[in-house]
Amino acid sequence: MSAILLAVNGPQAGEWRDALRPYLKGRDLRGWPDAVGAAGDVAYACVWNPPRGLLAGFPNLKAIINLGAGVDSLLADPALPSVPLARVVHPDLTMRVTEYVVLHALMHHRRQRLYDAQQRERVWRTHDQPAASEVAVGVMGLGAIGREACHALARLGFKVAGWSRTKKTLPGIETFDASGLDAFLRRTEILVCLLPRTRDTEGILNLALFRKLKRDGAAGGAFLINAGRGPLQIDTDIVAALDEGTLAGATLDVFPQEPLPIEHPLWTHPKIKITPHNAGDISPRVFAPNIIAQIERFERGLPLENLVDRTRGY
Ligand code: NDP
Ligand code: OXD
Repeated sequence: MSAILLAVNGPQAGEWRDALRPYLKGRDLRGWPDAVGAAGDVAYACVWNPPRGLLAGFPNLKAIINLGAGVDSLLADPALPSVPLARVVHPDLTMRVTEYVVLHALMHHRRQRLYDAQQRERVWRTHDQPAASEVAVGVMGLGAIGREACHALARLGFKVAGWSRTKKTLPGIETFDASGLDAFLRRTEILVCLLPRTRDTEGILNLALFRKLKRDGAAGGAFLINAGRGPLQIDTDIVAALDEGTLAGATLDVFPQEPLPIEHPLWTHPKIKITPHNAGDISPRVFAPNIIAQIERFERGLPLENLVDRTRGY
């Protein structure tokens, strides 16, 4: 018996179950926490943020499919079984996060928060508006999502550069590897973070880094968009950077503690736009067939697609 365990720690659990059902072809689907059945039956686990230690309880587990792009919370489980682990790489998710990046880059570029404030006061006043081609956007992380975000921003005319651990070649995009971080920051006015959370990236979005950004460009200041992971940012440094003028605005989708506590000062900072980690969620309906296809591949003796490199951490 090769049952599939679905363990989704969040409001989408029912949606995933309903989405998978039509593709099961007679396979046994077990739902955590109420319908797990005999642990020994479970061969595959499809998970999102399961509690630590949960997966160690399935002695015959053969593979894990993470139902999202980031695997940081899964890899933080010291008891995670050492079976192949795949994550989501899918155009649906890539495009959702890309939409988010474009929306917020344009919001800062087009000074939309200023116009929102003016509307509240019924003020009819225009402000100088640079062309996108005068504004430098820099994307940290050139993975499946970062690359697409670069292309979408470049299509809008922005001067786009990307930074990643290893050097990439992307048509029309200036690229920097890890050693080029300072040069990348010096030319960047709107900084977009699409990095995974690893030992090397935690805390990377700090005051010292913000102070290296370009503030005297056409955008009229430096801006931050973080849709990567919360622990990459130091919240107090973002507030300090905004208050001292190092940053002119920030969009934050992710936070070291989620949900963001109700009393947290970020909520009310006038230069911060907050969203509840919704830059991109894969649609269960769209991704369900890929899960079964992955399992079928695996059972044919082929490796899972989009395998996570555990030593690298993403
Ligand atoms: P990928 O694994 O495809 O890409 C990760 C990129 O980050 C790679 O280019 C990698 O460089 C780079 N990178 C990793 N570590 C470093 C480092 N220390 N220094 C410089 N560059 C580094 O990931 P995805 O593009 O699929 O997703 C990126 C992240 O976005 C996810 O891990 C997740 O945290 C976040 N995310 C957030 C969502 C949201 O709703 N807010 C939704 C989806 C994803 P290299 O290529 O050289 O290895
Ligand atoms: C994520 C996702 O990694 O939603 O945040 O896929």
